[in-house]
Amino acid sequence: MNLNSKIFIAGHKGLVGSAILRKLEKAGYEKIITRTREELDLLDNQAVADFLHTEQPDFVFLAAAKVGGIYANNTLPAEFIYSNLTIQNNIIHQSYLSGVKRLLFLGSSCIYPRLCPQPIKEEYLLTGPLEPTNAPYAIAKIAGIEMCYSYNRQYNTQFIPVMPTNLYGPNDNFDLDASHVLPALVRKCHLVKLAAERDIAGIEKDQRIFGPIPEDIKKHLGISGKKISADKKPKLVIWGTGSPRREFLHVDDLAEACVFIMALPQNAFKSISDENSLPAKGVFPLINIGTGEDQTIKVLAEMVKEIVGVSCDLTFDSTKPDGTPEKRLDVSRLNQLNWHYKIKLSEGLKQTYEWYKNKVKG
Ligand SMILES: NC(=O)c1ccc[n+]([C@@H]2O[C@H](COP(=O)([O-])OP(=O)(O)OC[C@H]3O[C@@H](n4cnc5c(N)ncnc54)[C@H](OP(=O)(O)O)[C@@H]3O)[C@@H](O)[C@H]2O)c1
Repeated sequence: MNLNSKIFIAGHKGLVGSAILRKLEKAGYEKIITRTREELDLLDNQAVADFLHTEQPDFVFLAAAKVGGIYANNTLPAEFIYSNLTIQNNIIHQSYLSGVKRLLFLGSSCIYPRLCPQPIKEEYLLTGPLEPTNAPYAIAKIAGIEMCYSYNRQYNTQFIPVMPTNLYGPNDNFDLDASHVLPALVRKCHLVKLAAERDIAGIEKDQRIFGPIPEDIKKHLGISGKKISADKKPKLVIWGTGSPRREFLHVDDLAEACVFIMALPQNAFKSISDENSLPAKGVFPLINIGTGEDQTIKVLAEMVKEIVGVSCDLTFDSTKPDGTPEKRLDVSRLNQLNWHYKIKLSEGLKQTYEWYKNKVKG
């Protein structure tokens, strides 16, 4: 890949796609192709075929998907499996037909079995049952990985599956019905702060930008209609017990890793290819992308509280699911390729909250 290569970023408005776009633009890549959902519905195979055959990109970052937290995954399982299978089928197959040189397929660490030994090595894939709350999403992603391997074997393509850990940063989804744990915590802490200051105008503005506040959270904040209760202290309620351990990577680090992998010469992959499984997986094995470090949700919540500047106690709603108890990636393959993360969690959280505040400031 060079500065003159034609590069398509599928999903460039999302958390990951927008970070890859920022990274490529900053590095001076000149021929970046993007399409909004309105311009190109990636669920439409013919539209994807026409687009790729007309544009003929050399490189494709597949960062478009239906993504969400535990609540969204649990309540919309059919949409999760259908959308993810369809988008990836369309893009991977049409990329092969239109002669794309290399494609990066973004999976997710939830593809690994629920009770994996830690840290999670790439080879643990398909060695045990999945976390049931996101199995439809995970199974779609596993099919995408197998599709990359199969096309590489049969058609000699260079389709590379990468598995990022939990991500966060600018352009994340802060909609409390769909968000992941970290953006939900940032927004809930910000709302607790506004509620404690009785700032109803601030709360309304926040809802206009990041979506409505669910009724149960309004209750915890003491909001009723256009009023904030004067006698109730706003509560910060967190789903689950707070004990699950999670790893987080800033999305700018992820984007850097994705561009790094996309630009690697083919022989660089030899050092990490899984000799035992050749030729089944070929020279482009799965690559985990993360920090290799984790902490409990409780510790994360305390960090977010401090950064936002709220002093309330944490309340854990243990009637809600925890999800996988532990999920820390083994990032030796990536380290072997000579890539390491740079942005520390405390620094990335501060930067993300600054971005959030600027958005609500307008
Ligand atoms: N977020 C994480 O923590 C995380 C962790 C590990 C892996 N990943 C992976 O990274 C990839 C991107 O995730 P993300 O967090 O960036 O998700 P995101 O913020 O929800 O972005 C997804 C993007 O895909 C686009 N999209 C979805 N359906 C589409 C369709 N039918 N036609 C056209 N565009 C469509 C969305 O368009 P709109 O803007 O129109 O909605 C959006 O731009 C996914 O494969 C995900 O599995 C994410």
